[in-house]
Amino acid sequence: MNILVTGGCGFIGSNFVRLLLESDRSFRLVNLDKLTYAGNLGNLADLSGDPRYRFVKGDICDREVVDRIIAEESIDRIVHFAAESHVDRSIDGPAEFVRTNVVGTFTLLEAARSAWLGGGKDAGERRFLHVSTDEVYGSLGETGYFTETTPYDPRSPYSASKASSDHLVSAYCHTYALPVLITNCSNNYGPHHFPEKLIPLIILNALKGQELPVYGDGSNVRDWLYVADHCRAILTVLERGVVGETYNIGGNSEKRNLEVVETVCDILDEVAPPLSGNAPRRSLIRFVKDRPGHDQRYAIDAGKIRNDLGWTPEVTFEEGIRRTIDWYLANPEWSAAILSGSYQDYYSSMYSERLQERGGESAAPAG
Ligand code: NAD
Ligand code: TYD
Repeated sequence: MNILVTGGCGFIGSNFVRLLLESDRSFRLVNLDKLTYAGNLGNLADLSGDPRYRFVKGDICDREVVDRIIAEESIDRIVHFAAESHVDRSIDGPAEFVRTNVVGTFTLLEAARSAWLGGGKDAGERRFLHVSTDEVYGSLGETGYFTETTPYDPRSPYSASKASSDHLVSAYCHTYALPVLITNCSNNYGPHHFPEKLIPLIILNALKGQELPVYGDGSNVRDWLYVADHCRAILTVLERGVVGETYNIGGNSEKRNLEVVETVCDILDEVAPPLSGNAPRRSLIRFVKDRPGHDQRYAIDAGKIRNDLGWTPEVTFEEGIRRTIDWYLANPEWSAAILSGSYQDYYSSMYSERLQERGGESAAPAG
């Protein structure tokens, strides 16, 4: 396999590159990443000398770069992670989400179509795997699960841009017979997670004794999956998935946000240095102004990937959250590098008002 991974310096992409490089499979891997605020070369620094691996800094919207990599490396697999991925940022500035998630995916599809099918060629064993999200299905009430046939109902600029990209990918399969696979996964957590998302933000703030912003009343539910399990699922679909099919991936691990935050607090009280005055970390929880259009509940029915491809999650939430906390405790320099950059501006713009409105004492992030 000659694999092009896009967005391999981000959270899930870097965990996927690591999984492949640590496996004994025979392959060549090129990682195309623009290194936006979310891309971090440090996520793969220890693997950069591997002769099977090449990094290219570039934009998936740049057709010339994509064409060049596919030709130079005889790419026969594309695993497409690159995206703008944070809902709150999509509410503040949706344009970049349309550019990267929609136009970027379109650019990759066009490049693959031209290289793999141009001149009447047969795509053979080539595969285009598009990594997507359960958020395209919208929001659930108290009961029910998203299946592969749930109608799309995206409700944030992020999920709308991912839904658009999913539709383009399906259309390239139906219209041109491009050999695509689509995965729609629930919320991931684990090492190398950028601290704009709930779990790493709460871990880092709680470590330093900073306020813990919980949107609304904390009753929103997400189905959490440890990132290594997601990466194994993607590899399974890449190797054994049926062309044209969609696979939902989930952790079968629904939690209310408040429960997640309280769990992180309790584990940190147990394993991290105590806060001044021995205050329990739960005392840092602040209920803040809700996210506009906040989806209430996501939950995945992962029966198809389990029954057809034999994949199931291996790491329980209780185990995964401890592993994640251990990783952040063991890698303070990784977080320090992020927290010392433009993250401070992001945090103030996103949280100052939210925390002040409810009378919080400090809007400063950890760091
Ligand atoms: P991330 O934000 O951590 O990483 C995104 C990566 O893409 C970064 O390395 C960034 O530099 C790169 N990138 C962004 N724009 C680019 C461009 N125009 N050209 C090239 N590279 C670019 O995201 P993540 O959490 O790792 O998510 C990866 C994929 O998985 C996304 O497609 C996302 O929609 C999907 N997904 C994420 C989750 C989750 O919980 N994080 C769940 C389901 C699906
Ligand atoms: P997030 O990690 O942003 O993922 P997504 O919105 O894609 O599910 O948020 C997970 C949940 O946590 C979501 O319901 C919003 C909530 N949340 C907070 O309560 N506080 C926060 O500071 C953040 C970032 C998220």
